[in-house]
Amino acid sequence: MNIQSRLTADNLSRDEIVTWLREENPTKLEVLWQAADECRRQSVGDEVHLRGLVEISNHCIRSCAYCGIRFDNKNITRYRMNNDEIFDCVKQAVEFGYGTVVLQAGEDLGLSKENIAALVTRIKKETPLAVTLSLGERDVEELSYWKKAGADRYLLRFETSNEALYKNIHPQRPNKTESISRIDLLKEIKRLGYETGSGVLIGIPGQSYDDLARDLELFRELDLDMIGVGPFIPHPDTPLGNGAENNIVPLSPESQVPNSELMTYKVVALSRLVCPRANIPSTTALATLNLSEGRELGLLRGANVLMPNLTPSQYRVHYEIYPDKACIREDAREYHDRLKFRIEAIGRKIGTGQGSAIGFSHK
Ligand code: 5AD
Repeated sequence: MNIQSRLTADNLSRDEIVTWLREENPTKLEVLWQAADECRRQSVGDEVHLRGLVEISNHCIRSCAYCGIRFDNKNITRYRMNNDEIFDCVKQAVEFGYGTVVLQAGEDLGLSKENIAALVTRIKKETPLAVTLSLGERDVEELSYWKKAGADRYLLRFETSNEALYKNIHPQRPNKTESISRIDLLKEIKRLGYETGSGVLIGIPGQSYDDLARDLELFRELDLDMIGVGPFIPHPDTPLGNGAENNIVPLSPESQVPNSELMTYKVVALSRLVCPRANIPSTTALATLNLSEGRELGLLRGANVLMPNLTPSQYRVHYEIYPDKACIREDAREYHDRLKFRIEAIGRKIGTGQGSAIGFSHK
């Protein structure tokens, strides 16, 4: 079998995945880009679905070693939007014709079960939008309550499938010694009937090529509806960004995955091949590495979703999970005005409707 037909066969082995992750030859990589683009076209079509992202709170009880909004970072201003402010952003998503609103926050227990449910109920009652929640590791009971209130989708990246590395960069939640693993929580989220999204960071110190290939296999095993991947971008106020002590054993340069733009495209393309029908965004972290064409190149190499940021600018600057986020300089309306042109310039069209994962049946 030639490489091209192997690549469309949706059965890449771990060794083949590693080989592609290590590939640097632009002519050979062109084969990967084309296979991913063709797979995207055949499986999910030419529509680019738009999800309006609202970062509703940057409070967080966790202290993940890479993340700028970690609890231990005392250098940021914390905010929590109220429901009226959030609803103004939701209305903007409707006005712009987006099919989905994504409510994202740190793991903020100040966002109560009842309050989120009330918000979801109101959005579902007053708008045609799908609602995606991305609020961290919450109790199964809360997740179930929000599903019943009408939430459609849940995003929770597992960040890395390497358990030792995961443990190193995700200290336990305070006062909670027994907690369900993130992977098991994702399975619960699926079981509750959510369209389920996950993903990883690319180029975490200590992440090997084999780890990343295993991540891609896990996307396939979990049969994810949505996959978001992006490069690790060091934040100076975090242990992984300021060279502070951590327990990660450094890998040799040959084993360590780089947190590069090129590596991100490879992972986007391979994600498409392992999960042909998933919704895959071209992420802001990618645009941060290449502001002029990162988003488009992601869309041309497997992605089919964009997540324009609708967070009001006075809050947006404080949702600094990593520095120089591409969207900080963007105005929601200006960005929206250019979007149609940019999408059509690469031969695609703006999606209509909610843009649910193909094949997903709501229970
Ligand atoms: N660089 C890149 N992505 C990051 N995230 C958190 N911190 C960083 C960082 N320093 C990502 C995580 C999280 C998502 C919301 O943002 O993968 O799941």
